Amino acid sequence: MAAAPHYKSVVILDFGGQYAHLIASRIRRFGFKSFILPADTKADLLKDAAGIILSGGPQSVYEKGSPQADPAILSLGVPVLGLCYGHQWMAQAAGGTVSPAKVKEYGPTAIRTTVANNPLFKDLPKEFTVWMSHGDEVSVLPPGFETTASSKDCTNAAMMDLKRGLFGIQFHIEVTHSEHGMEILRRFVDICSPEQWSMEGYASHVGDDVKKEVGDRKVFMLVSGGVDSTVAFTLLNQVLGHERVTGLLVDTGLMRKDEVLGIERAFEALKIKNLHIENASERFYKALKGVYEPEKKREIIGNTFLAVQKEVSDRMGLRIEDGWMLGQGTIYPDTIETGGTKHADKIKTHHNRVELIQRMMEEGLVVEPLKELYKDEVRQLGEELGLPRELVWRQPFPGPGLGVRILCAESPHPVDAALLKDFTLDLPHTVLPVKSVGVQGDGRTYRHALALFASHKVPTDAHYALATSIPNASRVFSRVLLCTSHTTPFDPVFVPTMIEKDTADLLRAADAIVDHEVRAVNLYDRIWQFPVVLLPMGAGKGHSIVLRPIESTDAMTAAAFRLPEALLKRMTDKILAIDGIDAVFLDLTNKPPATIEWE
Ligand code: XMP
Repeated sequence: MAAAPHYKSVVILDFGGQYAHLIASRIRRFGFKSFILPADTKADLLKDAAGIILSGGPQSVYEKGSPQADPAILSLGVPVLGLCYGHQWMAQAAGGTVSPAKVKEYGPTAIRTTVANNPLFKDLPKEFTVWMSHGDEVSVLPPGFETTASSKDCTNAAMMDLKRGLFGIQFHIEVTHSEHGMEILRRFVDICSPEQWSMEGYASHVGDDVKKEVGDRKVFMLVSGGVDSTVAFTLLNQVLGHERVTGLLVDTGLMRKDEVLGIERAFEALKIKNLHIENASERFYKALKGVYEPEKKREIIGNTFLAVQKEVSDRMGLRIEDGWMLGQGTIYPDTIETGGTKHADKIKTHHNRVELIQRMMEEGLVVEPLKELYKDEVRQLGEELGLPRELVWRQPFPGPGLGVRILCAESPHPVDAALLKDFTLDLPHTVLPVKSVGVQGDGRTYRHALALFASHKVPTDAHYALATSIPNASRVFSRVLLCTSHTTPFDPVFVPTMIEKDTADLLRAADAIVDHEVRAVNLYDRIWQFPVVLLPMGAGKGHSIVLRPIESTDAMTAAAFRLPEALLKRMTDKILAIDGIDAVFLDLTNKPPATIEWE
């Protein structure tokens, strides 16, 4: 690459948490270059940056071992904006004092601006409400700085040294709860005047990089059907030419109805013919026969996938010795180790960063054309490259596919009567003999689902309220559902269930109805994800289906999405018409206390 990637960009120095990604993606949405670098990046490497933003972070700047930046960044002549922890670090590094605040501020807080010449607050009202979240404060300003905003309990809610272009803000301008937050960020970016960022420009820039990186080698890529790998594969084809790229799509038998066909058609329209589709469904069903435990299922799906991939690539002769390298659809948030996760225990290893892949990366055997992009940018790029809109704007779908949505059980999960002893509820209800995963406090739970019944078969606000209060108050339930197929409780009949062609087909049929109906009323883009789950129980001889529409931004938390009544009724009726399904439920639970998927 000719210039460092952060040349003339706004660099976010990351002190931890998710703040850094929020800020960088917002600046890109303004149309300017922005990248994240570790908090301790040397000032030397930052002299060509257009501006520097110091992110928030969870620690205290005066604590031993807390993340520190290079103080020389304050003398580069590059504008610097410190936010929350970044504000406090700037104050301390420039000779001021940070100490525990007498009154800690959390949540909406009124602030008053105190000077007229602060370019960041120009033309804003003198008083407005912002989002505070801090236990420390800047108690003594550094020399050369003046206070630019105060709240009732925090004198130095914002500060600046205008001559040196240094600004500090205690509140979180990057969250939507802060009034004028985006305007303040935009004003700082305008002061920096970074280079522009656009997908058209990016596509040609990344094309040159990929060509250089690959040289005269060839690239083998696993295409999962997900947005990222589909876009990456298309880009590689367009940049390197069809002869030098080969893709492999493994049909696991756990994909959605016509999913493989849809991908094939999209590539056909782009004249991309080098995608090999390996139908390994039978092999997956065989490996999963008699397996009921959720994590075991995931493990088997993952291992079978790797085995098939290896066999096919061997069969096709795609060897490193013969000049093949691996392509991956890794995106920006997965490549940046944020300050918050750097020292924390590994919660999960991203599958694109397992040891074998890390080793191959060190040897220069992996090319990742999307590694600088956020998800929405990958989607824009996909459209730029000519992929159909429905494909690139698809709702997220888990790697193990329908495998995690077929609840498997050999026998019913009996309900512990002792645990139910104190549970009372005035509404008609049934405890379902199935368990699902939830998340409460720091840990995962594995508990029963409670089904409510109502004469209209549509949920009310009171039902949604119970979906929060019941799992919070009881140790028995992680989810609350409303039955949309029956008005009065029935005795659930357990059906032993495992992953096999029949159960996958049953779920596929229900899932296809949901997908069709949601698109038909133009709600597809408003629902973040819509898992459809098959339960090992029904009202007679069949299985049940659970509808789980949610709203979310990042899957960390989610709210149950409220479907229009007519849509809910139509979906329920059509699903009930599937041979083998005799009950339908709607999951009303938020995350937490439930997770998005049932296992
Ligand atoms: P939960 O159920 O934990 O899901 O609230 C959060 C998000 O992660 C997706 N998910 C997975 N994705 N492999 C994946 O690639 C998995 O094993 C897996 N499990 C959950 C889920 O669909 C949701 O978007």
